[in-house]
Amino acid sequence: MNAPGNVWQGAGRRIHLQEVGLRDGLQMEKALVPTADKIALCNALSATGVAKIEVTSFTSPTAIPALRDAEIVMREITRRPGTVYTALVPNLRGAERAIESRTDELNLVMSVSATHNLANLRMTQAQSFDALAQVVARAQSAQVAVNVSLSCVFGCPMEGDVPEAQVFDWVQRFVDLGVCGITLCDTTGMAYPTQVHQLTAAARVRWPGVAFTLHFHNTRGMGLANVLAAIDAGADRFDASLGGLGGCPYAPGASGNVCSEEIAHALALMGYATGVDLDGLLAAARQLPALIGHDIPSQIAKAGPRLALHPVPADFDAVRARALAR
Ligand code: COA
Ligand code: ZN
Repeated sequence: MNAPGNVWQGAGRRIHLQEVGLRDGLQMEKALVPTADKIALCNALSATGVAKIEVTSFTSPTAIPALRDAEIVMREITRRPGTVYTALVPNLRGAERAIESRTDELNLVMSVSATHNLANLRMTQAQSFDALAQVVARAQSAQVAVNVSLSCVFGCPMEGDVPEAQVFDWVQRFVDLGVCGITLCDTTGMAYPTQVHQLTAAARVRWPGVAFTLHFHNTRGMGLANVLAAIDAGADRFDASLGGLGGCPYAPGASGNVCSEEIAHALALMGYATGVDLDGLLAAARQLPALIGHDIPSQIAKAGPRLALHPVPADFDAVRARALAR
């Protein structure tokens, strides 16, 4: 939905921005955002042209009360052709709910860290894998696409570094099941650029046919640097959240995802083609504080885009006259 000549459209490499604020962001919020407002926000995000929107999660309403209206939201949003509407699904029950609600893609989740998997999903990794294999089979029989998000790929807040071989073993197991995409998640902002470059490049060499998404949190201020490092290593799909909302309820210290409008702004300046209307994204982000009852991390929502210029100070003419008179 970009006007021709939109200044925020680069002509360079296509980078897919995938909006996760409605799920990764809202799942953490204390205030319950009214269902109608979630639907309106999703529609506004669709209109900006993002490639994919994680609309909600079909999790237990006791575990994630903020998203207990998943069915209504998924059914009542307006679907823009070209945007993929995905949802997080933890188990077979969630898959049935998501399929019933006409979700385009199921985003399954498990952790490459045994400790984080138990804390977040209350299952051992073997139990998670068996359960998810059933979900993949169910989705395949319903002809619904599956993406798997692997948590703690760049480090676990409880275990520390996770060996690359262990990460890649889980990737291989899901690739063997025939999933369409894999998301490498930096769940708690432990990733750093050289690590990201190395792991992304290695994954792309080993699985050239798999659509990898990179999912970074900005917990330690390295989010944008990590996105750029991943692009340099050939990645072209990124999760990001409006306003920089986000966090994992079972990952101590986790903070917001990389911020959609910050990433869209930086990538457009660098000439990448995101297909996203930055002005629309900014307008949506600026509505967030009223919806969630607090400020948002987004720097661009505060500062405006780089060339959103300010008037000169009121005393400018006098200052200039004095300077020239010297
Ligand atoms: N949708 C709706 N309800 C669900 C459900 C689903 N997908 N999965 C489980 N439930 C319900 C069960 O019916 C049961 O309800 P009851 O207490 O009324 O009988 C309750 O949740 C507990 O079910 P149980 O099978 O014992 O699972 P659990 O409590 O171990 O929950 C998870 C396992 C993973 C499904 C649950 O903890 C969850 O949804 N967690 C959210 C994980 C998440 O999204 N984390 C953040 C993203 S990384
Ligand atoms: Zn996340």
